[in-house]
Amino acid sequence: MDRTQVAIIGAGPSGLLLSQLLYLNGIDNIVLERQSREHVAGRIRAGVLEQGTVELLLKAKSGGRMLSERLVHDGVSLAFAGRSVRVDLKALTGSSVSVYGQTEVTKDLIDARTAAGARLMFEAAEVAVAEFDSAHPKVRYRHNGRTHELSCDFIAGCDGYHGVCRQSIPQGALQTFERTYPFGWLGILADVPPASHELIYSNHARGFALCSMRSMTRSRYYVQCALDEKLEAWPDARFWDELRVRLPDEIAAAVITGPSIEKSIAPLRSFVVEPLRFGQLFLVGDAAHIVPPTGAKGLNLAAADVRVLYQALVEYYRTSRTDLLERYSQLALRRAWLAVRFSWWFTSIMHKFSDDPFNHRLQLAELDYLSGSTAALTSLAENYVGLPFEI
Ligand code: FAD
Ligand code: DHB
Repeated sequence: MDRTQVAIIGAGPSGLLLSQLLYLNGIDNIVLERQSREHVAGRIRAGVLEQGTVELLLKAKSGGRMLSERLVHDGVSLAFAGRSVRVDLKALTGSSVSVYGQTEVTKDLIDARTAAGARLMFEAAEVAVAEFDSAHPKVRYRHNGRTHELSCDFIAGCDGYHGVCRQSIPQGALQTFERTYPFGWLGILADVPPASHELIYSNHARGFALCSMRSMTRSRYYVQCALDEKLEAWPDARFWDELRVRLPDEIAAAVITGPSIEKSIAPLRSFVVEPLRFGQLFLVGDAAHIVPPTGAKGLNLAAADVRVLYQALVEYYRTSRTDLLERYSQLALRRAWLAVRFSWWFTSIMHKFSDDPFNHRLQLAELDYLSGSTAALTSLAENYVGLPFEI
């Protein structure tokens, strides 16, 4: 039977980052990923990194390309009622955010892990975790047609919302909290310059829209859509028309259109499971919590979990101290709930929930208040750039 110190399930950003940080601290680990390397590296998802995430990627020695290619944004804009208001993140908080795609973060981490000779197993099928309520957890999986068994000290469940780890914990041991939203986001990626040099979040009577980017030549746009919407119903021309209708005239006029290179629909949900530890199994990132994308928090929250867990594991292997491992769930959940709250609030003021005009007027009043209040803008800005870390 093969053996490692930490078995990591999932090679998304949380699994890869944890693997790299443990490796740099002399802790042996294996990453088991269901999908192929190309699939993992090609998924278009998050785009905004908090400064704390940037620093953790640098600590993981996986931030060189990010530093030269990222776009540092000192502000974002909120558009509503035909106008737009800039939130000066830098002036309000002293901090900025970095635009650098999750795709690139993942590529950089895979390259760093591969260069270090990591045991990174893509296309690991039928991964099953067992005996994690004992001191000797086991992981079984199939790879290249053969069945493998792995013995370890700890299992890190970094396998996302649909992963196997959370589902392997006995039903009664976990409490789940969930809110689904009655809409999704239809997103496209196109090799055209962005409409503005910063992100624009737009509230419109027809629904939310977001102007984002991956670089000054690659744009990422989203429009709120119905949950049962079909991609086939959204040829590029319809997407661009709908996007422009939902933006103030000046911004709409600056949108440069072009053929999409990716198009997808993502549902919106809030989800938290408690606690994040069961025996020697730890849940990390999207396996533990999901937030609607509006606040750009999902990837950053995954990195924040990794930050707490890798430090706790390093401390354990160095000194046999278990108190940080014991506090993992509490520390990670505290941050998760703060992000759940912010993402829920930002979602609630920016999206169309019903045809009731009263609701829309309330949202416009809230945005009007925000735009005239330094206190309210500071609250938004400090959440958007990322709240301070506790440890
Ligand atoms: P994942 O990225 O889901 O990785 C989990 C991995 O586990 C996957 O590779 C999966 O294949 C693998 N896996 C699953 N099951 C198994 C199994 N049984 N065996 C082995 N492997 C398995 N976040 C932000 O911070 N900022 C943003 O701007 C932002 N925008 C977003 C926009 C969209 C449209 C979406 C959908 C998400 C966005 N997010 C954003 C959220 C962010 O993408 C996620 O929070 C992030 O991917 C979580 O990383 P993770 O590693 O925990 O999980
Ligand atoms: C992006 C996604 C988000 O959820 C967000 O809030 C900002 C940007 C993006 O994909 O670029």
